[in-house]
Amino acid sequence: MFTKEEMDAVYKAIYTRRDVRSFLPNPVPQESIDKIVQAGHNAPSVGFMQPWNFIMITSKDVKEQLAWAADKERRALAIHYEGEKESKFLSLKVEGLKEAPITICVTCDPTRGGSHVLGRNSIPETDVLSTACAIQNMWLAATAEGLALGWVSFYKKADIRDILEIPPHIDPIALLSIGYTDKYPDKPLLELADWEKRRPLDDLIFQNKWGEKK
Ligand SMILES: Cc1cc2nc3c(=O)[nH]c(=O)nc-3n(C[C@H](O)[C@H](O)[C@H](O)COP(=O)(O)O)c2cc1C
Repeated sequence: MFTKEEMDAVYKAIYTRRDVRSFLPNPVPQESIDKIVQAGHNAPSVGFMQPWNFIMITSKDVKEQLAWAADKERRALAIHYEGEKESKFLSLKVEGLKEAPITICVTCDPTRGGSHVLGRNSIPETDVLSTACAIQNMWLAATAEGLALGWVSFYKKADIRDILEIPPHIDPIALLSIGYTDKYPDKPLLELADWEKRRPLDDLIFQNKWGEKK
């Protein structure tokens, strides 16, 4: 049983968690990093396959290479937008890889546990979904530790595999930049930038059948 205070703390982590892209250079205590990774490792996973690995990146040189890969992708993605939307897209900050004192690359190994992982035979992408559960645990743990975390997915997997020497069958799912910040947003940055807003929850809930409203 959770006490009222414990329940409030869980919801506080859920509602105050934000994607952050600006970091201070202040070092992050190793103890906090250990707790964040431990929280990731305690996530649910299909057939308990635990498909994740965590690559801890603190080298300035490696961070610069990752930032190069992310920036290359950002510029390539700009072709999806035109005119005002394109300039707005290019003005968005989508990563803080060079600034953050540490970035963790979370990977997914689809071969872990052999070819018949319980439950994964039906929906193969449950390995990636399990890895996303680990990432969300890490995000909430970072929030509770008073740290900021930014999920970077703007990259070509091949670039990240080359830079981090990841074998070809392993998927780099996310780059998580972690650090302290003095720019912690109270709303999603994309909402503050007028790019997107939270949809009304009522519109997303159906009764018994797809599309059926109360
Ligand atoms: C799978 C996934 C990939 C994401 N990739 C990026 C990214 O490459 N760059 C970025 O700035 N934010 C990225 N984000 C963060 C989202 O933009 C952010 O979660 C969303 O705008 C809502 O804001 P909030 O996390 O502060 O609630 C990603 C989030 C998820 C879940």
